Amino acid sequence: MDIVDSGEHGTLVTRRSGPLDGEVRIGGAKNSVLKLMAACLLAEGRHVLANVPDISDVSLMCELLEAMGVTVTRADHRLVIDVPAELNTEAPYHLVERMRASIVVLGPLLGRFGTARVALPGGDDFGPRPIDMHLRALESLGATFSTAHGDISGTAAVLRGTEVVLEYPSVGATENVLMAAVRAKGRTLIVNPAREPEIGDLVEFLNRMGAEIGWAGDRLAIDGVDRLAPARAPEGYAVIADRIEAATYLAAAGICGGSVFLRHAVAGHMTMLIRKLTEMGMHIVADDEGVRATVTRRLSSADISTLPYPGLATDYKPFLVTLLTTAEGVGIVTENIFTGRFRYIDELRRMGADIRTEGHHAVVRGVERLSGAPVRAHDIRAGAALVMAGLAAEGETEIAGAAHIDRGYEDLAGKLAGLGATITRR
Ligand code: EPU
Repeated sequence: MDIVDSGEHGTLVTRRSGPLDGEVRIGGAKNSVLKLMAACLLAEGRHVLANVPDISDVSLMCELLEAMGVTVTRADHRLVIDVPAELNTEAPYHLVERMRASIVVLGPLLGRFGTARVALPGGDDFGPRPIDMHLRALESLGATFSTAHGDISGTAAVLRGTEVVLEYPSVGATENVLMAAVRAKGRTLIVNPAREPEIGDLVEFLNRMGAEIGWAGDRLAIDGVDRLAPARAPEGYAVIADRIEAATYLAAAGICGGSVFLRHAVAGHMTMLIRKLTEMGMHIVADDEGVRATVTRRLSSADISTLPYPGLATDYKPFLVTLLTTAEGVGIVTENIFTGRFRYIDELRRMGADIRTEGHHAVVRGVERLSGAPVRAHDIRAGAALVMAGLAAEGETEIAGAAHIDRGYEDLAGKLAGLGATITRR
């Protein structure tokens, strides 16, 4: 099937599909590569990253690094990042506004230069997205912050290792502290850090750059060093597989039926998800090469509650809600991470889903069939979930706002079409 990319504001058009059959290659993790790119700021020289997904958030992070004076070359899923001795330590609003993850340049800039100015990110479709924990944690290392004209400016004459307690295991705050503490004087102990696989990837990458970071039970211990250098990996440091992309294709198999092999997916990063999908009736097996999902019957409903890793990720929730819309029975979904992350539910309702929401809970009663309708993607994962719903719906579904999906998915339409789904891009 021809997939035509009509640019930024494309629309995806789906029809009821399945059973799916075949293999899909899972790429590098968006939520890891963006942080590894920021980590490169910590050392002058040439950094090489491999298994880099071809997604627009990576392009935005390239733009941000370039605005700071870095040279980035991108080809064949590799990035060559040349970091000069001096950098412009400012992240401007027009870039931060388009990608909230830009805030992770704060830690490395403070760590290496003792100064950083980053535009304050606004809220988004999940509701407010504060950075108070990032700032408090960096302050405990000795940084001071002031805000003016929508920017946050940080300075640190010297960062000193100390105990940093995160009252919640925030992914972004953990990353910012890690990337500042690697250059602090002495030992930093992060109590209650995030433990997502992407944090593990960042730790590994920083250690390859010469950092000294280790796990002390469920805490992170960082012994500051005077100098970091690009990780020695001639072929490039390979980004870990994207567990959320993998979850998307698991959901596609769940909703369309069939048998799908996810090459490079790491089952150990998705333990809770695989348990939940198995409970719902999917058959999932894994080996060193990837994960196979087989679905031969209508799924059964289950209750779902999102939690920080190793709990069920909030990013999986839109897919799980979509699976529940056509599963047998009633499922109760509780969102504990981003309480505003229910907006796509109105779109699912337009497709005939029976969902009631109350605060951060949703009650989903499975229906026999969804019905195709024009809908709009408001964020990456919600967009992908609407595509899944479209594959289960009678008639045609038009998903506007495909640019959101492109932020985090390399060729979602092409990969689904390769599995036999009916999907085109306009
Ligand atoms: N929070 C605060 N204050 C802070 C930081 C976070 O109140 O200073 C709150 C947030 O508002 C939220 C919760 O803590 O309610 C979790 O936020 P966290 O910092 O853990 O998330 P993040 O770093 O902003 C990353 C991913 C998200 C993913 C979350 C949770 C990236 C670029 N983003 O966000 O992924 O949902 O962790 O796992 O890594 C996506 O890929 O589409 C995506 C949104």
